[in-house]
Amino acid sequence: MNIAVVGCGYVGLVSGTCLAALGHQVTGIDVDTKRVASLQAGKVPIYEPGLSEMILQQTAAQRLRFTTDLSSAVREAQVVFVAVGTPPSPEGGYDLSMLFGAVEKIIEAAQSEKTIVIKSTVPPGTGEKVAQLAAKSPHRLEVVNNPEFLREGTAIHDFMNPDRIVFGAGTAEGLAVLREIYQPLIDKGFHILSMGRASAELSKFGANAMLAMRISFINELSRLASAVGADIESVRMGIGSDPRIGPAFLKAGIGYGGSCFPKDVAALVHQMESLGMEPHLLSGIERANQHQRADFVGRVMRAVSDVKSPQIALWGLAFKPDTDDIRESPAIDIARMLVEAGCTVRAFDPEAMDNARRILGDKITYAPDVTSATKGADAVVLATDWSVFITQNWQGIRQIMRGTHVFDGRNCLASGKVGAAGLHYHAVGRPPVKPGGGREGTVGVVVAG
Ligand code: UDX
Repeated sequence: MNIAVVGCGYVGLVSGTCLAALGHQVTGIDVDTKRVASLQAGKVPIYEPGLSEMILQQTAAQRLRFTTDLSSAVREAQVVFVAVGTPPSPEGGYDLSMLFGAVEKIIEAAQSEKTIVIKSTVPPGTGEKVAQLAAKSPHRLEVVNNPEFLREGTAIHDFMNPDRIVFGAGTAEGLAVLREIYQPLIDKGFHILSMGRASAELSKFGANAMLAMRISFINELSRLASAVGADIESVRMGIGSDPRIGPAFLKAGIGYGGSCFPKDVAALVHQMESLGMEPHLLSGIERANQHQRADFVGRVMRAVSDVKSPQIALWGLAFKPDTDDIRESPAIDIARMLVEAGCTVRAFDPEAMDNARRILGDKITYAPDVTSATKGADAVVLATDWSVFITQNWQGIRQIMRGTHVFDGRNCLASGKVGAAGLHYHAVGRPPVKPGGGREGTVGVVVAG
């Protein structure tokens, strides 16, 4: 199938490349001439494991190309995916100007029957508006929603192994086109869920809000766990072993970030309020998320309160490991809060330093590696669970630090090893470990046979 993908951002690039790998002829389109030129030269502007290699393979196989010329790419295509950005609007909803701008250009360029697939995340009701616009074309332009559920860092795997392919539009013709596109995945046993447009749109928002809610839920519980001497990791097992609940997305820490959860939760709240409904539960999700960051910084500041100019080694800037994305990253907020509280912050992140520098400028310093970030630090603050942090030699870390505090914002470090190195280990919702290794309070879960 000949497919045009409008938008070479995160979702567009991953989807376009994977569609080419499924055997389709794909043209990626973007208005950003620099981005297109770099893609044409084989340079990928985002960090996503495996993506560069896959783009090179698919371009070499002549199944994938990039252009700024939307009109001719759309004219040649049977199917046009819309994967442009839908950033948050100042009012708390979604700014859909790029989406409608792209749709108008597609309608203008179309000289024959086509299917327009909305891949961008859009609030419920948007697909219907796009369909109304498309109905004005003299050619039959079918509009379908096909929301993307991929996660950064595992995007290719997620696209190729979808839990579900959601199809919104409900028409037999649209479904037939989507089937043809995803046939190689359907052959492997993955299935399409066919539903109405608004249902497809709300499914995407609902999934993200539910996952964000689970994180905020466990984070709220982690505060109580600390207060009563419980270990949130044991509690997570205790509740996550119930098959009705499950353990996924119940990892306590400094909260969620990224381009989806904060924006989607805010947009749902905004949409409900604008329809005159009160979002009792949804409005608490982000509040709890923000609180988690502030609470964590408060604990760091209490630990270094007797130091005149505290030096903090900030481990991680990305919102999660295996990405260079810092959008809504808790680490960035934490860096700002630490600086405002009078600390000197030296940060290291394997991939997100350039992006962070663009936002934080010289508020903090950027170290070339973990050791340089940590030398002379009064406290290590781990904000992103990159494996390079998890595998550190704690005896070595202890020797280069000035102070003794390690704050694990992702509950990912081996507390015993940190304590054994003579450091104070502080996690989220877990009893602290004193230098020497003895955990205060309760420990782990015992499985009796
Ligand atoms: C998310 C959804 O998972 C994906 O389906 C959707 O398409 C886009 O939004 P992504 O933003 O890439 O994907 O990241 P994800 O892996 O879901 O993590 C989001 C945030 O939650 C990260 O900051 C992560 O550190 C945090 N998180 C995740 C927790 O704090 N605890 C958990 O248990 C899981």
